[in-house]
Amino acid sequence: MTAERIPMGRMFIDDEMLDAAHRILASGQWIKGPESKAFGAEWAEYCGALGGTPCSNGSVALIAALHALDVGHGDEVIVPSHTYIASATCITMVGANPIFVEIEEDYYTLDSAAVEAAITPQTKAIIAVHLYGQPIDSDIFEIASKHGIPVIEDSAQAHGASLNGQRVGSFGDIATFSFFPSKNMAVGGDGGAILANREDLVQRVSTFIDHGRLDKYRNDVLGTNFRLSEIQCGIGRIQLKHLDGWVARRNEIAARYSVAFADLEHIKTPKVRDGAVHAWHQYVVRVADRESFCAHMNSMNISTGIHYPIPCHLQPVYADHSQGSRGSLELTEAVCDDIVSIPVMPLLIDEEVQRVIEAVVSWTP
Ligand SMILES: Cc1ncc(COP(=O)(O)O)c(C=O)c1O
Repeated sequence: MTAERIPMGRMFIDDEMLDAAHRILASGQWIKGPESKAFGAEWAEYCGALGGTPCSNGSVALIAALHALDVGHGDEVIVPSHTYIASATCITMVGANPIFVEIEEDYYTLDSAAVEAAITPQTKAIIAVHLYGQPIDSDIFEIASKHGIPVIEDSAQAHGASLNGQRVGSFGDIATFSFFPSKNMAVGGDGGAILANREDLVQRVSTFIDHGRLDKYRNDVLGTNFRLSEIQCGIGRIQLKHLDGWVARRNEIAARYSVAFADLEHIKTPKVRDGAVHAWHQYVVRVADRESFCAHMNSMNISTGIHYPIPCHLQPVYADHSQGSRGSLELTEAVCDDIVSIPVMPLLIDEEVQRVIEAVVSWTP
């Protein structure tokens, strides 16, 4: 009998979540109620930010953050190309120009020297992505502050990560999160949040996602509807109570993998930055022959993923971008060619972790 397939993700649903969904539904207050207020405040407090606003998803969270910082036509925004496409398209959506910058080979996050070299008088913001749950190099905040440029922490993959004891989402001027179902914590649908560390930004963001109004019939500034529903906020509050345990479990699994794979010749294991708690949204290895690796894992009934096979600057949507051809970012391109993600979700049981280890160890290209 073949063993059951190990997926890349598994949903956590418990009675408390189901009860909350029933209770909030029955209350008749489906939007703009106590759950949204409490979730925004509790999420900001957890991350150590000044204030927080739940919103519809992590992509509009980025658009709201750029809007709050007055980024628009003619502006440049520095961003890694090795990230989910939403980190870049938000810049284009507000009429600004993404400037794609190289990553550090060891950590897959923005290279601080490359960031500094890319700054021009047109640079209006930096979107720094804590990719896979790895906190970015803190030098980026110093460089940004030296140049008077705000940093948006795209923390969509890094719930619960920290650097030198400080949680991600609290370093930059503004931070965004996604609660997409596969993320480190979820809300029972699409969802996101924007955190800010300046009072003016907290206010701008919360007004922007609710039609720019300060009271019911007055629309003071430009805004739209990027709100998150009460049921989802209620579910998010419950998931938040589990987050530390889930991050700890992800770390336990990642540590087992890194020990087991340390001496494998054809596999490069991920590193953790000094002083960091990695949130391990993805455990990503580099392999000598990706096709053969994925086929082998598949034959052992184990799922794999690729995050991401095409860097943003080479996506067809950026075909006309000045960096939109191969060779623009050589390290990023090389990484995208040989990375593979293996299951690391906290609901993996020990026997499954062992199966993944045995499958990886038994692969030869
Ligand atoms: C790094 C990063 N930024 C932004 C997003 C966009 O979030 P959402 O899917 O909630 O719109 C994601 C989600 O996949 C992401 O991984």
